Amino acid sequence: MLPEPGKIEQAVALLHAGELVAFPTETVYGLGADARNPAAIAKIFAAKGRPVSHPLIVHVSSLAAAGEWIADLSDTARRLADAFWPGPLTLVLPKAANVLPAVTGGQPTVGLRAPAHPVARALLAAFGDGIAAPSANRYGRISPTRAADVYEELGDRVALVLDGGDCEVGLESTIVACLGGRVTLLRPGAISRSQLRDIVGEVFDADATSPRAPGRNRSHYAPRTALVIVEAAKLRAEIERALAAGERLAVIARSDAPVASDRLVWRQLGKRPAEYGRALYAALRELDRVGATKIIVEGVPYDEPWAAIADRLRRAATQVVDGAVTDAT
Ligand code: TXA
Ligand code: MG
Repeated sequence: MLPEPGKIEQAVALLHAGELVAFPTETVYGLGADARNPAAIAKIFAAKGRPVSHPLIVHVSSLAAAGEWIADLSDTARRLADAFWPGPLTLVLPKAANVLPAVTGGQPTVGLRAPAHPVARALLAAFGDGIAAPSANRYGRISPTRAADVYEELGDRVALVLDGGDCEVGLESTIVACLGGRVTLLRPGAISRSQLRDIVGEVFDADATSPRAPGRNRSHYAPRTALVIVEAAKLRAEIERALAAGERLAVIARSDAPVASDRLVWRQLGKRPAEYGRALYAALRELDRVGATKIIVEGVPYDEPWAAIADRLRRAATQVVDGAVTDAT
C-alpha cells in the first residue's frame, strides 16, 4: 500500500525541517527524524519519553548507503546485509566518527537497517538515507503495527504519519551485532538464528561482554492490563477457575475457545507463527481496551519459528505460569 501522491515529498520536506515523520516498515511503524540533525533526534526522545541512553536504529536503503555511518564493514556484516537487506534485520557495527552521539546513546557502535516496505523505501530514496527511527510508540509500550496505532501513541507529537497499511511482520527486527569477529544475536525477530547461522556460521547469545541493547527490559512491549502466560495444557482449567472467581478475561490463543462466557473475550491468532506474529500487537492493543481483569496468553511452542513471539510475550508478561514461555532463541 502506497500513501497518497505528494505525501512522500511532504514527509521529506518535514524531515529536512527537523520534524518527526512516522512511517511504515515491514516490522513495525517507525518514528523518523533526520539522523544528522541533533535537534530532530532530541524530538524523538521527547516524544517517546525514552531515556537518552537508548540508541536509535539508522535506516538506510542499501549496504552502499550504510558506508557513511560505519567505521569499517566486516566480511560477516557484508554477507548478512547481502542476504537479508532490505528486510527485518538490524546490524550493530562500529560507528563512523561523525555519527551523532545522541543517535548511538554514546556507544561506539551504530545500529543500521534497510527496511523492505515500499513506503519506507520510497521515503529513504527521496530523503537520501539516514533516517533515525525507533518504534513509533511511547516508551515501554507496544510497538504500532497500523497507522491508527501511531495516532493513538503519538498523534499529537508527530508532524505526519505515512499510512502504509498493516505491517507484514508485526514484530521488531532481528538485531545482530557484528563486532570483534563475533556475531551476537541481541534481539530475536523474523530472521531466525538458523538463517543467520547459514550465512555466518556460529551465532553467539548476548552476554555480559556484548554491546548493551537498552530496551531489552522485561517491562517492554507491555499492555496496561496485567498479562499472564499459561501453559497450553493448563489453559482451560485456568480460564474456568478465573471465570468462577468472577474475573473478566481476555485470552490470546492458537486455537478456538473451549468455553463461552460473557466475561470472556477470545482472540484466536492461529497456529502459524508468521500469522500469529503479524496479529499479536494489534490483538494486545484491542484486548487492553475490553476492561478485562487480566489478559491470559496461551504459552507458545518452544522452537525456533516461535522464538521472537516467545521473547515479546515474556517481556509483556507480569506473570508466567509454569514456565509456559521459555527462551527458545
Ligand atoms: O523493526 C525495528 O527494528 C523497528 C523499525 C522501526 O525499524 N525499530 C525498532 O527500534 O524497533 P527501537 O528503538 O524501538 O528498538 C531498537 C533496539 C533498542 O533496544 C536499542 O537499544 C537497540 O535496538 N539498538 C540500537 N542501536 C544499538 C546499538 N548501537 N547497540 C546496541 N543496541 C542498539
Ligand atoms: Mg521500540
